[in-house]
Amino acid sequence: MKLILLGVPGSGKGTQGRLLAEHFGATHISSGELLRAHLADPTGAGRKVGEYVRAGELVPDDVVLFLLREPILAALERGYILDGFPRTLAQAELAFEHALSLGATADAVAYLEIPDAAVRRRLLERSAEGRIDDGDAAVVERRLQIFHDATQPLLGYYSDRGLLVTVDASGTPEEVEARTLAALKARL
Ligand code: AP5
Repeated sequence: MKLILLGVPGSGKGTQGRLLAEHFGATHISSGELLRAHLADPTGAGRKVGEYVRAGELVPDDVVLFLLREPILAALERGYILDGFPRTLAQAELAFEHALSLGATADAVAYLEIPDAAVRRRLLERSAEGRIDDGDAAVVERRLQIFHDATQPLLGYYSDRGLLVTVDASGTPEEVEARTLAALKARL
């Protein structure tokens, strides 16, 4: 299975990514986790990345592609659940279509649909865990705005390619997983 998960911050991409990777025996690849791990880079390259992530801004494409290249290539055979990438039309084209292509393909794209108000609550609850982009309400709003401006156009892009399934992402993680699996089964 090669699946892309799309959804606003807090919609459950990471949670479903882990569950679905286990279900399909695929590799869960989270761009956000890779970037957060990179923040500790002792050479200082992580510091620049940290400025973007802390502000809720998108990290430049070249950095994201550099970090994702190896994990995606390593998972091509086993399959992957991509969580957080691609996030813009440019990234979708860079990774999947253009000369810089990673050779990555997608069998399906699942959009985890949930109102912004519901994820504001979830991210507020998680802020106690100390993630650098959860504690500040203005940063959470910026992340939501970037999703609506830059990532939402991917819904039309993947719908046009016959790859999109939309899943109601409210309810428990297990309910969302069951809905996602049912939607994928109906589509594939
Ligand atoms: P990223 O790590 O991708 O974060 P995000 O998209 O903001 O999403 P989250 O991780 O906050 O939420 P999620 O949808 O994964 O939900 P989760 O399962 O964690 O990106 C972070 C930053 O990195 C970006 O802002 C950007 O700076 C940079 N970045 C990343 N990718 C990039 C890219 N491709 N290009 C450029 N920059 C990039 O759940 C959230 C919470 O809700 C958790 O506490 C969870 O336990 C809870 N929860 C989950 N599901 C449920 C449920 N069903 N019911 C109740 N609670 C639930």
